[in-house]
Amino acid sequence: PWSADRAAGIVAEHKHLEGATLPILHALQEEFGYVDEAAVPLIADALNLSKAEVFGCITFYHDFRKAPAGRHQVKLCRAEACQAMGSDKLHGEILQRLGVDWHGTTSDGDVTVEPVYCLGLCANGPAAMIGEEPLARLTADGLEAALKESRA
Ligand code: FES
Repeated sequence: PWSADRAAGIVAEHKHLEGATLPILHALQEEFGYVDEAAVPLIADALNLSKAEVFGCITFYHDFRKAPAGRHQVKLCRAEACQAMGSDKLHGEILQRLGVDWHGTTSDGDVTVEPVYCLGLCANGPAAMIGEEPLARLTADGLEAALKESRA
């Protein structure tokens, strides 16, 4: 869970670095799994930036999560070979069924969806991962079934 003290400590440890915003954000995400909005004024104060600048940085780099990730992380391959197998359309359907956008987490906190660019399963695309488990020849139904299984 988020700890204001620990966050302040991380900011203090890194603030002397050149271009400290990114190292701080990375360190916060590593510690907490996401960057809580409460960090924005902390960082802005320490580095003499506006809150908008700090917030812009969090938003610009999609690596940073603004909320804790879901219990299951789904990675969908958006690279070329999978695209040739119809991944774009498939991803649209999957995101719609889950009711999220890229990098989003379902409202029940169950699933977070991230894009990836090639999982080395190009011959068996569209490819995906649930956690550490690779999924080949993905379909929307197949993903649903696999998620059900990993919940069981
Ligand atoms: Fe999707 Fe390689 S392009 S796994």
